[in-house]
This record gives sequence, C-alpha cells and structure tokens, in this order.
Amino acid sequence: MAEIITLPEEIVAKIAAGEVIFRPQSVVKELIENAIDAGADRIEVEIAGGGRRLIRVFDNGRGMDREDLLRCYLKHTTSKIKSLSDLDRVVTLGFRGEALAAIAAVSRLRIASRTTDSELGHVIEVMEGELLSITEIGMEKGTEVSVYDLFFNLPARRKFLRSARWETKLVVEKLKQYAFAYPEIRFILRIDGRDVMDLSKKDLPERVADLSGFDDLIMVEGGRYPVRIKAYLPPPEKARAGENLIFVNKRPVVDRKINAVVREHYGDKPTFFLLFLDVAPEFYDVNVHPSKSEVRFHDHRYLTDLLNKVIATKIPKGKTVEQATLLLKEELRPDRLFQLHKSYILAETEGGLIIIDQHAAHERIIYERILNRGDEGQPLLFPISLELNDEQLRIFEEVKEILIRFGIKTRRFGPKSIVIETVPSLTTMDAEDVIAMFDDLAQVGVRREEIAKVIACHAAIKTNTPLTDEEMHLLIDQLFNCSDPYHCPHGRPTHIKISIEEMNRRLGR
Ligand SMILES: Nc1ncnc2c1ncn2[C@@H]1O[C@H](COP(=O)(O)OP(=O)(O)O)[C@@H](O)[C@H]1O
Ligand SMILES: [Mg+2]
Repeated sequence: MAEIITLPEEIVAKIAAGEVIFRPQSVVKELIENAIDAGADRIEVEIAGGGRRLIRVFDNGRGMDREDLLRCYLKHTTSKIKSLSDLDRVVTLGFRGEALAAIAAVSRLRIASRTTDSELGHVIEVMEGELLSITEIGMEKGTEVSVYDLFFNLPARRKFLRSARWETKLVVEKLKQYAFAYPEIRFILRIDGRDVMDLSKKDLPERVADLSGFDDLIMVEGGRYPVRIKAYLPPPEKARAGENLIFVNKRPVVDRKINAVVREHYGDKPTFFLLFLDVAPEFYDVNVHPSKSEVRFHDHRYLTDLLNKVIATKIPKGKTVEQATLLLKEELRPDRLFQLHKSYILAETEGGLIIIDQHAAHERIIYERILNRGDEGQPLLFPISLELNDEQLRIFEEVKEILIRFGIKTRRFGPKSIVIETVPSLTTMDAEDVIAMFDDLAQVGVRREEIAKVIACHAAIKTNTPLTDEEMHLLIDQLFNCSDPYHCPHGRPTHIKISIEEMNRRLGR
C-alpha cells in the first residue's frame, strides 16, 4: 500500500510559517519592518504575556485600503516588488510577501488600517489564515496589527518558547535594533499594560547615546561607493561588554567576519559597537536567509580591508602595551583597595572597577623581574635537600647556571642529592613549593622563558592568602610597572575591568 500522501494545504502553511516566525521576537521584527516600509514616523509596540497572549504594532504610515487589506495576509502577496528584476534593487525591508501570511497561519490576527485619502478605515479578523470578517472602523491614519495567541495551533512551537520574561527581553532587543537604525522614527513600547519606553525622534548621535547608555563612544566614518561606513566604537583598549550591532542599509544583520575585524582593534576582546554600512545594492545579496539576518557581500575582502582602514583612523590596531599601561595607571585610584576572598584585590578606577588576581599578578611581576634583571636570591633559613633521579640530575646540570641567575642557588650534595640554598627574593617559598618547582622544572627543558615561568608560578603569592594594605599597594605598583601588566606568563589575564557604564547597564539604569 502506498504510504506517501501530499500534505493538506493548511499543514504545509503552518510548517512554512514556522520557518519565518520562531517566536514573538520574529513577529515583532516583521511588523516593525512593515511599519517602516509604510513610511511611518511613529511606531508603537505592545506585548502581553511575553508576546504569547498579544503582540500589537501600530504605525502612522500610509495604511491599506479595503482591497489591499483583503490581500495582505494571503501567501506571496506584496506591494514591494513586481518582477524578478526588482529583486536586485530592493529598497524596502520586506519583499517576499510571506510575513503576514505566516503570522496569520499561526495566530488569531486582527488588522485595522486607514489610508490618508479615506475617512474611515477597515478591520479584518483572520484565524488560521481564514478570513472571519471585515468591517468599517473609525481610526487614526495608519495600521494596527494585533496578533493574539501566537502558536495556539502549533503546540510544538509554543512549547519551545521560553519564559515570558525571556521572550520579552528578546522583543525589547529587537525593537532597540530598529531604534538605532531609525532615529527619525519615534518608538514607543508597552509591556503588559505599562509604558516602558518612549524614544522621541532624534538625530543619530543622540539616539546612540540614549539607547546605548555610553556617552564616550567614538564615531568613525569613511569609504565611498560602493560601501560607506559609519561606526560608533568604545575608546581604544576599552572593549565593553554588550551586544554589537551591524546594519546593512539599516537592516540589522549578523556577520562574524566583521565582528572579528572590529575586535582586532581591541586586543581581540569582544566589545559593544554599532556599525552602519551603506552598501550599493549590486554589491550584496540579502536573499540568502529567510529572516534576512545574513547578507552576502560580493567582495567581503574589500569590505573588511576598508573597515580596518576606517577604524584605524581613530583606533589604531595593536596599541603598544606601554601606552595602555600608562592609561591604566592614570585611571587607577589606589587609595581604595579591598581584598576579596583572600584572592582578589578590588580597586576603584576613574571609569569603574578593576579586579586583580593576586596570584596571576604576582606571577607576572616575578617573571619579568628574574628574566630581565636576574635575582640575587634570598637565603632559606633551612636549606632544603632533594633526591633526584638520573634524568632529573641530567636536566639539573644543564639548567644550574640559569637557576642561579634567577635567584636559586644550589649545591651538589652526594651523588644524587642537591641542596637548595636560596629562593628568589621577595617571595615566601617553602619546602613544598621548592619541591613542586623542581618537579615542574624537570618537565620544561632548558629554555630560559619556560624556566622563569615555572619559578614565577611556584614563587608567587597563592590564592587564599591574606594581604596587608601595604602588600596590596606594592603588588599593584609593581604590576603596572611591568611591560605587560595584562597577562600572567601563561597568558591568562591578571585583572579584569568593569566600567561604570556596564554596571549601569546591567542594573537596568
Ligand atoms: N503596516 C503596514 N502598513 C501598510 N501596508 C502594510 C503594512 N503591513 C503590511 N502591509 C502590506 O501588506 C503586504 C504584505 O506584507 P508582508 O506579508 O509583510 O510582506 P512584505 O513586507 O514582504 O511585502 C506588504 O507588501 C504591504 O503592502
Ligand atoms: Mg513584511
């Protein structure tokens, strides 16, 4: 018996809808895009129950007449392109004619709309893609789309949604993206009946400062046909936690290669930034991703080279460590120190807070000191004798001279034993540390840097060690006199910075 059937139309529609509409956020995205395409300069978004219960978007754009209203929710209906050739020069955000049909398939939909040249508007009600009613209605010029009970008929999708809080957060993020790209539009957001945001019309710099919460971003600009670039970036070496946003002709997109280019200017740290690309239509293709969140550039290399050049005008790549250190030292306010969990030192800086890993910091200090200047060594009160095996003895003979330079004086004592007489100065190594150090030394061979790393690691203050105020001051002072105060010899960070902006942002200020 044949098993294969053609799926009924309504099931096909629902499955297809699931590919464009994943969650409330995708509905909001599509509705905002339609509002922008309609030429609105005021867009009001309202959600309830994380968008499951209600998503409503009102815009004061050009609206639809009765005839268009009866078409707009059907599949493949659009006013934005007429023929295949139009695809190459799309100027609107939408053009596939899928969004309203997809939303209609998985919700109860109500659309009210009125054009400028009509006294009255019309309202349609649609359920699972079927028209229930159309009536006249008095309303302001524009369009109001209300989406009730999203995925009520697609339990699998509904189950996949996360908490109302989370879905709300995603909606807010999406709205903010468009608010960055369209400062000339007023955006209003209402959540569960409460007004939470009202962004009046602004110019771009003001909108950026308002929305990002950062008032020290640096604007860079450059390029010409086919690619123009405008970016807002944190000051050099001040990478900031936060979402980075890339817009291509005002359309938010994701592009990992572009992220990587920006990051290179911040010591490879991820950072918040805003990037607006004005790209000639023939230079890229948006039709690659169903939600159009990825675009394909015909010459990505050209784009990244240009981007690099433009950013480098204000934010040079590979700023020298000395410059950066100077900056940091100026910022530091070392009169306010605090030790946390006997392992971290907290210090106030001009721009926020710095958290220093005491062990990693001390490792860096010892490493640079013994490697660059050598060390006299300080005598152990009770010299330690060690029994070595043949292999260890062989290595010991090879590195003996280097160890002396690094502050570790030894003496042969019988055929297989050595006595350790000094350890690097300003350290508090005990017998246990020395033995562990010799174990590690046997592993690393004869390279000076590697040996210095091992010594620094075992000589440094450990975590879980209380420090006095003086010790903390000394440590910080010495750290920021290092040529690379940023990393321990193994490459881990010695400290992290948290800016006041980040604290504000994370606390929702
Ligand atoms: N807010 C709106 N204001 C005016 N017209 C709208 C609005 N939303 C949708 N439309 C009309 O409905 C059509 C279908 O919308 P949609 O399904 O999102 O497809 P697309 O945006 O790809 O054209 C649009 O082309 C437009 O003509
Ligand atoms: Mg659309």
